Amino acid sequence: MLNDLKFQEVAERFMQKHISVAPMLDWTDRHCRYFHRLIAPSVWLYTEMVTTGALMHGDMRRFLRHSDEEHPVALQLGGSDTSDLAACAKMGEEAGYDEINLNCGCPSNRVQSGSFGACLMNTPDIVRDGVKAMRDVVDVPVTIKSRIGIDDSPEYTFLEDFVGTVAESGCDTFIIHARKAWLQGLSPKENRDIPPLQYDVVERIKDTFPDLKFPVNGGIRTIEDTKEKLELFDGVMIGREVYQNPWFLREVEKTFYGANDLLGKEEIIEKMISYIKKQHELYETPMKSITRHMIGLFQGVAGARGWRQGISTLAHKPETQPEFLLDIMPR
Ligand SMILES: Cc1cc2nc3c(=O)[nH]c(=O)nc-3n(C[C@H](O)[C@H](O)[C@H](O)COP(=O)(O)O)c2cc1C
Repeated sequence: MLNDLKFQEVAERFMQKHISVAPMLDWTDRHCRYFHRLIAPSVWLYTEMVTTGALMHGDMRRFLRHSDEEHPVALQLGGSDTSDLAACAKMGEEAGYDEINLNCGCPSNRVQSGSFGACLMNTPDIVRDGVKAMRDVVDVPVTIKSRIGIDDSPEYTFLEDFVGTVAESGCDTFIIHARKAWLQGLSPKENRDIPPLQYDVVERIKDTFPDLKFPVNGGIRTIEDTKEKLELFDGVMIGREVYQNPWFLREVEKTFYGANDLLGKEEIIEKMISYIKKQHELYETPMKSITRHMIGLFQGVAGARGWRQGISTLAHKPETQPEFLLDIMPR
């Protein structure tokens, strides 16, 4: 049991593992990442998926914008065209990202019609060539995030073929969401819950490719879960639990990195107030675009409801000053 081990011992054992907050579209934008970083100085953060089309033809600077405080931070790309992937990986590295990750796990229709995301698992040679092209032009690591399979793909051998082929590019890290993506009939949200979690498949792939790294993702919600997965895999990636209950990230940081000088909630709120003011000054960012990510900060604490309601109503009023956060903070 975790309680039997001293925090420092646990931290020493797990320090080298990759612990991260998952890429989540519309959730892990730069404001959210800044907030998560205040809570946890060491975990890796991932951007939302940014498509190569958006970077090649849209406002590239806006899509890549992030704060210095966010590091270490990875840019997740969605795309399949080899030269676009290479160009976008280069843009990401030049913008300062510490890792480029390719999305091979997203099941949404929009992504399928662009032939990327999870359906890329059907064409490992295209992924291998894309990753090779990216690795040829950047020095930062290029990693993959995938599922264990799609639809009725054969159990295990499909993933084995995928990893084996993509690894020919030199990529050595595969973050695996331990469930299949069912591309027909399920919404993206259902695809995060309904296909069953099969961590054993990830264990098997790790045994087959001992020189590659396999952080695992999907359904991790407690410190005990995190510890158990860190024992088995090369890292963990946590999504919804962190977003909905950001203070969980503090427990992760304390337990697995042994940090003991972490900021308290009030200090974090004060720093967020300064951040809100700065973002407004620089980019006219509306306060609500930032405070929406803070709604779960008091999850499970008396007074959480007032905090949530305050954010949902007051943050939308033009006359509200960011200091309102200190007024509605449960004490
Ligand atoms: C709102 C939302 C948006 C997501 N967007 C992305 C995305 O842009 N790229 C990606 O690879 N996965 C995306 N995911 C999937 C997560 O990265 C993660 O794989 C999934 O939520 C399972 O992890 P969890 O059980 O810890 O939440 C998203 C998940 C959520 C909840």
